[in-house]
Amino acid sequence: MEQKIAQLKKDLNAVILAHYYQESEIQDVADFVGDSLALAQVAEKTTADVIVFCGVHFMAETAKILNPDKLVLLPDLDAGCSLSDRCPPDKFKAFKAKYPDHFVATYVNSSAAVKAMSDVIVTSSNAVKIISKVPADRQIIFAPDQHLGRWVTQKTGREMVLWPGSCMVHEIFSEKLIVQLKVQHPTAKVIAHPECEASVLRQADYIGSTKQLLEFSQKDDATRFIVVTEAGIIHQMQKASPNKTFIPAPPDNGCACNECPHMRLNTLEKLYRCMRDKTPRLELPPGLGEAALKPLKLMLEWS
Ligand code: 13P
Ligand code: SF4
Repeated sequence: MEQKIAQLKKDLNAVILAHYYQESEIQDVADFVGDSLALAQVAEKTTADVIVFCGVHFMAETAKILNPDKLVLLPDLDAGCSLSDRCPPDKFKAFKAKYPDHFVATYVNSSAAVKAMSDVIVTSSNAVKIISKVPADRQIIFAPDQHLGRWVTQKTGREMVLWPGSCMVHEIFSEKLIVQLKVQHPTAKVIAHPECEASVLRQADYIGSTKQLLEFSQKDDATRFIVVTEAGIIHQMQKASPNKTFIPAPPDNGCACNECPHMRLNTLEKLYRCMRDKTPRLELPPGLGEAALKPLKLMLEWS
């Protein structure tokens, strides 16, 4: 399968981008593995004719907005995101209408239609930086992740009106379980994604995007880490630091609820088939990509 994918990559002049939450076999055949921001930055600059996006729908959609003339393939078009799905464009439009003068900052985990209603897009790795750049006299709407929004407020001091969304994977981590793990592994450092609830984040030694968590685990002196995010990231952590120990939270007790069911819809076989058949393709309705490009470009500029 890996050889066939490598051959198709040459035949199509394709680049394979994968998020850290993809299964390890997919990460290992990708040209780039990264967080949402890094993958968007690579997508913006690529000279390949075809972008094969191993991630969820909004990520492939972002690549298409940045590359309207390229073919963008996604192994499974149903790979959604609970944050994006729980923020439908019509409801967001009504929410936004209540605050007509607010500056709208939207997390990249959202649909193109919601992005098109925004002033700037953020990811978990640049949200603090971007919100700090919003003119001080502007009030802000932040959507759709309330936990990320609250954490950004803590870091920047900027109060924001929050859309009440959350991620189905990160909301299942509990403070009690993290504390139990800390007692079992007293030398371990807790590293967490800012999509976790505030009660979980207050137990963390370090908070950051997937890429930032990976970099922290490489640079920090600790040899044990309790990893409070989707467990797929541990593949790269273990590869980069083979002598360190990474403990997924909650512990691996047969429950796979720290794996994103959307991300895991993609498989190596579906990746092969989508390249062979050049489908499923990511397409955008006319005009939507152009409208969503402006806030996305502003994010890339402010990053
Ligand atoms: P990152 O931008 O940190 O990769 O996060 C993406 C995501 O979907 C987190 O659940
Ligand atoms: Fe969306 Fe959560 Fe899955 Fe990330 S982990 S893609 S935020 S559902």
